[in-house]
Amino acid sequence: MFDKLTAMPSDPILGLMTKYREDTHTNKVDLGVGVYKDEAGHTPILTCVKKAEQHRIDTEETKVYIGPTGSAGFNQLLGELAFGIDNPAILANRVRTVSTPGGTGALRVAADFIKRASSVTKSGEAVIWVSDPTWANHTGLFEAAGITVKTYPYYDYDTKTLKFNEMKAALANVGPDDVVLLHACCHNPSGMDLNQSQWDEIIELTKEQGFTPLIDMAYQGFGDGVDEDAYGVRKMAAAVDNMILCSSCSKNFGLYRERIGACSIVGKDASSANVAFSVLLYVVRCIYSMPPAHGAAIVETVLGSDELKQEWLAELKVMRDRINGNRSMLVEKLKEKGVKRNFDFIAEQKGMFSFLGINPKQVEQLQQEHSIYMVDSSRISIAGIGHGNVDYLAESIAKVI
Ligand code: LMR
Repeated sequence: MFDKLTAMPSDPILGLMTKYREDTHTNKVDLGVGVYKDEAGHTPILTCVKKAEQHRIDTEETKVYIGPTGSAGFNQLLGELAFGIDNPAILANRVRTVSTPGGTGALRVAADFIKRASSVTKSGEAVIWVSDPTWANHTGLFEAAGITVKTYPYYDYDTKTLKFNEMKAALANVGPDDVVLLHACCHNPSGMDLNQSQWDEIIELTKEQGFTPLIDMAYQGFGDGVDEDAYGVRKMAAAVDNMILCSSCSKNFGLYRERIGACSIVGKDASSANVAFSVLLYVVRCIYSMPPAHGAAIVETVLGSDELKQEWLAELKVMRDRINGNRSMLVEKLKEKGVKRNFDFIAEQKGMFSFLGINPKQVEQLQQEHSIYMVDSSRISIAGIGHGNVDYLAESIAKVI
């Protein structure tokens, strides 16, 4: 049976991790996978996480199955962090949350849920609309669940701006049986976010068209702040009957390998949320049965303690400020190295990523000749920049362009 298989290409993002690790060049620069790095190029464990983890080790009493929903305490606290404690949808008891293995687990649960929900719609076909471009794994993940993936215009590679009018025009043709995926903040891969008035317009359009929004929030706190980054999520949940939210704690809690995230659904009212939730739990049971508990317990301890939560917010601010500082630092360095092309857009974008805007040949040249690693699309992970490598990076970019 296996003899008939053809090999899959390596993942466009994760494949870079291996290549980078194997490179022996002393000046190598990793701008590939989206993980936070400090000045030393290290991905630290947050101090608040260390404390919460110690607390868990001291107090944990059992390893018995946690159940498909995961920890109720985590679900409540993460839900409140995302939707806001006084969100009308929360107050109306319309939100239900499950812990998931990372943000990708949340998306896969959402995908299977959508597939089931679509089977009882008029068309019977499950369709999701994603931004062009979107996170490289979105398409494969939804297609693997049997969902048709279509795209709406989003980022203009030439002008480095949002194609907002084209986006609205495309979404104005999406019907009530379809799902539209929106990035809450820190758009991956473009770094180009909707501003608040654009969110308001998209929310109005969602209500008019009746499609179901699925918001992917993998970087809450990395854009402008925890509350600011959740603007669209909070307003959308209050405004629409149905919504899905996929959250990740990989980046903002630095819990990458613990695999912890959440999938929340918002129903029209409490009883329809209960029905949808039963379907969500069935889906979870069929995929992985129950989520891992360790990362959820850490987040629950941090968010459940005033002191640890303040510490977390301060540590998150350090990460956010460093990334924003890196953005301006790279732009300035490129100017200093005599690069005439305008890269100011990098300083204006948000979150972990931006497109450098160079062609695949130049991306390859940076990798082959300078040991600088980024995704083929020229997406760079801004956190990989530091005072120690920015000169080399800017000089190398200047050489290839
Ligand atoms: C990224 O986009 O680099 C991150 O979300 C990591 C991943 O799994 O792709």
